[in-house]
Amino acid sequence: MKEYTKITKAILHWYEKNARDLPWRHTHNPYKIWVSEIMLQQTQVSRVIVYYKRFLEKFPNIGTLAQAQWEDFLPVWRGLGFYSRGKNMLKTAKIIVQEHDGEFPTALESLPGIGPYTAAAMKSFAYGQSEPAIDTNLERIFQRYFGCSKKGVIPRAKALFSTNKKEAPSMNHALMDLGSEICKSRKVNCKQCPLHEDCYFLHSEQKEKWQQSLISGRIGKKVISKKIPMEVAVACIQKNGKYLIAKRRKEKGGNWEFPGGKREKGEDWRHCIKREVQEELGVEISARPHFFEETWEEGDYFWRLRFSRCQILSGQITLHEHTQIQWVLPSEFKKYSLPEANKKAITKLMKMKMS
Ligand code: ADE
Repeated sequence: MKEYTKITKAILHWYEKNARDLPWRHTHNPYKIWVSEIMLQQTQVSRVIVYYKRFLEKFPNIGTLAQAQWEDFLPVWRGLGFYSRGKNMLKTAKIIVQEHDGEFPTALESLPGIGPYTAAAMKSFAYGQSEPAIDTNLERIFQRYFGCSKKGVIPRAKALFSTNKKEAPSMNHALMDLGSEICKSRKVNCKQCPLHEDCYFLHSEQKEKWQQSLISGRIGKKVISKKIPMEVAVACIQKNGKYLIAKRRKEKGGNWEFPGGKREKGEDWRHCIKREVQEELGVEISARPHFFEETWEEGDYFWRLRFSRCQILSGQITLHEHTQIQWVLPSEFKKYSLPEANKKAITKLMKMKMS
């Protein structure tokens, strides 16, 4: 129970700051919610916005739509495609007016064109019910986060929504936004995901395979856009309870950083870190297996930073790439503006015992 409560809080907190402002989120009117959900069934949000507004100007309520003929309807739908949706809307409007006094019945799924997803979305957004609207986006988020099968999604979605029934509509909106902005089918933006801490996918071999597929430009036989790998070995060199940081030359930004550099094609990581430190500082080091890996996508690049704890074995430090070095205690890291991508590694370092 505790875990579900934590997830709900994280999602709602993220949503408060990142919600998309969509026109159908300003209403609870069942008719308007229905119009939006039918349009969104097979069409992108950005396209629906334009059509939605025009549609409601022409047919502001179920009564006006029920009186319409296909010839009246077609001009406001033309271009949205999937015309059977439109035909079903006209049928539904007539049924509601003729058989249900103009109100949507409780059995929403008995109406043409309303399936389980649309019914759940309407129950949530129009009537405030605690219904998870389970579509491919929500399924993907749940399967990745919990590492569960498709079958495992429904019980988990129900359990999650039961932790805060009042906020079910916001949870549905939030999960839609997460699926469309962060946890996308082909592109993931785990760094900004409110669920990254305990995400199964992010911390599993699955993610490793996924990252490889981004670099190779293929998922199985399917060709996807290819990313250029930028793999960097980072040396956290320790001595007497302190770590070495070095200041880059002005023309290279003048920032403080750990030494290290880009792995060459086919190069072993350990060889890379030793070579980079030798080139930059003129010393031979020993390097442990990495204690942390940070990855992210940026434009055409796929970045991977591996942090290792190291010790100087021989040589005198001579600066070839930097203007200054500093030995700092873990508690002093915050005084130096080290790169954002080092933050998590530094937090880990601060918790580690020196050896
Ligand atoms: N896709 C389906 N329903 C949606 C909604 N209400 N908001 C955004 N995207 C959606």
